Amino acid sequence: MQRTLTIIKPDSMEAQNAGNILAHLEKEGFQIQALKRMRLSEAQAQKFYEVHRERPFYDSLVAYMTSGPIIAVALARENAVPHLREVMGATDPANAEDGTIRALYGSSIERNAIHGSDSPENARKELHFFFSRAELIAAE
Ligand code: CMP
Repeated sequence: MQRTLTIIKPDSMEAQNAGNILAHLEKEGFQIQALKRMRLSEAQAQKFYEVHRERPFYDSLVAYMTSGPIIAVALARENAVPHLREVMGATDPANAEDGTIRALYGSSIERNAIHGSDSPENARKELHFFFSRAELIAAE
């Protein structure tokens, strides 16, 4: 089994889509192994999206990700990383395939419903960003 991280983003929380998104992921065979509802500080959002620091959308992204609560979720299944990318859909909901989470629940390239780790290495880093080693071990 592989693990990946998803973040249910502020737009999904505001629209009360968190339950539907979690149900969608469970139907796709993902196990919810750890889950945390929180509001990111500016420093946390800046750090999480560090790789995008030079991009023109960085400040807006940080403002959006701190605009309300999020839920960070550790998910497990076979091929969790690529499977979540498939189920999540393209970054811009307008380009996401029908039936994907971003097509169903996203509203713009920024307010795109959920995040999903893009590689097993980043999944490991991102899981440790939100969850302690003890929380991840306890989830096994
Ligand atoms: P995510 O997959 O979480 O990774 C980076 C986030 O930046 C992305 O989802 C969007 O929320 C946001 N993003 C990516 N590209 C753009 C863009 N061109 N304009 C605005 N926001 C973007």
